[in-house]
Amino acid sequence: MARRRRLVVGNWKMYGRLTSGLVLAQDIAEQAEAARPLNFDIVLCPPATLTWAIGEALLGTPVMLGGQDCHTANHGAYTGDLSPAMFVDLGCRYMILGHSERRYGHGETSELIAKKVEAAQLAGLTTIVCVGETAEELKAGSTSEIIEKQLRESLPKKVKTANLVVAYEPVWAIGTGQAPEPEDVVTVHKQIREVLGEIGETVRVLYGGSVTPANAEKILAEEEVDGVLVGSASLNADGFWAIAEKCQ
Ligand code: PGA
Repeated sequence: MARRRRLVVGNWKMYGRLTSGLVLAQDIAEQAEAARPLNFDIVLCPPATLTWAIGEALLGTPVMLGGQDCHTANHGAYTGDLSPAMFVDLGCRYMILGHSERRYGHGETSELIAKKVEAAQLAGLTTIVCVGETAEELKAGSTSEIIEKQLRESLPKKVKTANLVVAYEPVWAIGTGQAPEPEDVVTVHKQIREVLGEIGETVRVLYGGSVTPANAEKILAEEEVDGVLVGSASLNADGFWAIAEKCQ
């Protein structure tokens, strides 16, 4: 089978104000422009407040836009929430869902995440569904059990394969500077494909958690890894581009 097109995603989390965010996005877009034609996809997921301005700045560049979370409905009386359709209006093509900072920081269940995935896909977004074990679960040896359960429960019954990306993000690796060994990433990625069944070979599976310019090469040397979801290292244009380049 031909190699799946790789994908690098910058998750800015709750970082970036208007001026700094625009400078960061423009610097990344310049590097991407200079490297055209790209043989991988590159997506920035800024805070929702910056999406419009950054979308304008990225017009005509190879860099795509995404959101970090959305509601299950396209409109309604939901104070403070943002709908999938609203992100589509702003030019977003991707949506991160089920990030551990949503699961554990906001009590989001896999059941809720599955509803969000369904709504975001219906709105036309490609959903990046995150799964991963905690440090305790790793120690207890229950990684594969947790991954299977989270993945099965976080996907809607009518999942659109073409709009699905899965990100393996061990919770203990996020923001800690501690990434798993590439062979352990490969083991989990293979398991994710098994759980996905017949669609497993076509769905892109990313790795996320303390990806840096220093460890990206080793991680992306693995054919199993279809790209990376990058948090803190995506807040520096040169560092993020150094990671992105390894997706070639
Ligand atoms: P990190 O975050 O790269 O800062 O560890 C990754 C993520 O949360 O997606």
